[in-house]
Amino acid sequence: NRQPIVAIDGPAGAGKSTVARRVAQSLGLMHLDTGAMYRAVTWRVMEAGIDLDNESAIAELVSQSQIYLTNEPQAESALTPQDSLPLRYRVWIDGEDVTQVIRSQEVTGNVSAIAAQPAVRRELVKQQQQWGCQGGIVVEGRDIGTHVFPDAELKIFLTASVQERARRRQQDLKDQELPIVSLEQLEQDIQQRDIRDSTRALAPLRKATDAIEVVTDGLSITDVTEHIVNLYRTLQ
Ligand code: C5P
Repeated sequence: NRQPIVAIDGPAGAGKSTVARRVAQSLGLMHLDTGAMYRAVTWRVMEAGIDLDNESAIAELVSQSQIYLTNEPQAESALTPQDSLPLRYRVWIDGEDVTQVIRSQEVTGNVSAIAAQPAVRRELVKQQQQWGCQGGIVVEGRDIGTHVFPDAELKIFLTASVQERARRRQQDLKDQELPIVSLEQLEQDIQQRDIRDSTRALAPLRKATDAIEVVTDGLSITDVTEHIVNLYRTLQ
């Protein structure tokens, strides 16, 4: 008898990470960003100079790599009035803090190719299921409600139009002081990643039949968070 699990799936840039973090915060649950795990492995593969299509070398690397995800208190000075969250997500792989670098365009451009490989998914899904086995957690990704935790108590499918998602991605880049990419380029990247993520053979992105779809165009983060928190409370 584990605690409840909230699964939040959806395409790139629908606002999953921010919403998942806030839902977890407001319900006192843990938060697991599975995209960060695929990104960390992608960074590691690139750093090791392994070709993206060298599946056996990548399988070997992923089986030996150690990924850590921590929610740690954010320095008081780093808080802005809009962001009153005391928690900050950090990602480590093999002793290296990759929190920032896994958000780069290079990693973003390669992550779908790595995430499509069976050995990578097998290993990371196993780790995700271990993380969440006690429940009491919000897990976000592409295949959480369909594959990783098909028995999650609440399944949300978070979407938004491509234009809206590109605008948000550009804002994220600005906020993180990363190089700015044009909206046209971002829309193209998002569309390509949507296609790759939803057409791959293994655990493709799709809405679970029992997931609740939430379209976030024109909704604030607070609106979406409250909506999901209310859905969760009606379960209790
Ligand atoms: O959520 P985020 O955009 O950080 O995810 C990066 C990539 O990781 C996705 O585009 C997808 O290719 C992969 N991913 C996945 N399964 C998950 C989470 C992410 O395949 N559960």
